[in-house]
Amino acid sequence: MYEKYGDYSEESFTDLYDYLPIYSQRDDINFYVEWANRLDKDVLELGCGTGRVSIPIIYTGVNVIGLDYSMPMLKKFKSKLEQEEWDIAERLSIIRGDMTNFRLNKKFGLIILPFRPFQHLISVEDQLKCLKSVRDHLTTDGYFIFDVFNPNPERLLSPAFGPVIDIPRFEMSDGKMLTRTSRVLKSHWKDKWNEYEFLYEIEDLNGIIKKIVQKTTMRYFHVEEIELLLDMAGLKILELYGDFDSSPYEPNSPEEIYVAGIK
Ligand SMILES: C[S@@+](CC[C@H](N)C(=O)[O-])C[C@H]1O[C@@H](n2cnc3c(N)ncnc32)[C@H](O)[C@@H]1O
Repeated sequence: MYEKYGDYSEESFTDLYDYLPIYSQRDDINFYVEWANRLDKDVLELGCGTGRVSIPIIYTGVNVIGLDYSMPMLKKFKSKLEQEEWDIAERLSIIRGDMTNFRLNKKFGLIILPFRPFQHLISVEDQLKCLKSVRDHLTTDGYFIFDVFNPNPERLLSPAFGPVIDIPRFEMSDGKMLTRTSRVLKSHWKDKWNEYEFLYEIEDLNGIIKKIVQKTTMRYFHVEEIELLLDMAGLKILELYGDFDSSPYEPNSPEEIYVAGIK
């Protein structure tokens, strides 16, 4: 059931996740933490990964449930949790599941989907299944907050994008050197999704280079399409930001950050 999502099922990649600066230094954490703090309600994080966002949220004092389908990502999350004090760790539950089809028998005042997992849902059917599951788990006054990147028209028009070095050589905390090169393998123009390949080259202290290839797919969304999808799932946009400093969405904003609620 989980094999179709090949990329996050590989330990070799998930081992790297927390090391990569474009992930670990992403400036979205305060945004999500502030919403959790302000609402002070139980939080459900879909596509929680290694707990990059969930763990800082538990420190606001709320309870968090993290859901993800990837065993290796959840394994990393669990090992990070084991390093936390018990009164922090006990406020967090981790569930293995698919965000397009889950049933938790509980409603939440805040459901979050940070750092673009929604873009891994290629078909409209899966997107709607995810949004309808969200609606079923949201309290009537609850908030659903998620982000996708604002599609870059140049990339959309040049399907043979890359290869480019998007993570220049840097030293990881274990002394190994890492470089990442990315490229678009195939562009599905009509259905607005791309197949990506990321090549990680990791050089150890003896100069031996190990290569890891990660493949992933990303769907592109424009605002009016998200608006329509939310509407079809019984949800509506309450607020729309263009970046994690809560600036309003503009055509050239880097992100589309949706705050949605029940229609
Ligand atoms: C870019 S990571 C984001 C992880 C985390 N939210 C963060 O901000 O660091 C995407 C995550 O979405 C998860 N994911 C993708 N599709 C999923 C699905 N259908 N159901 C559950 N998790 C999914 C992946 O396993 C991965 O952990």
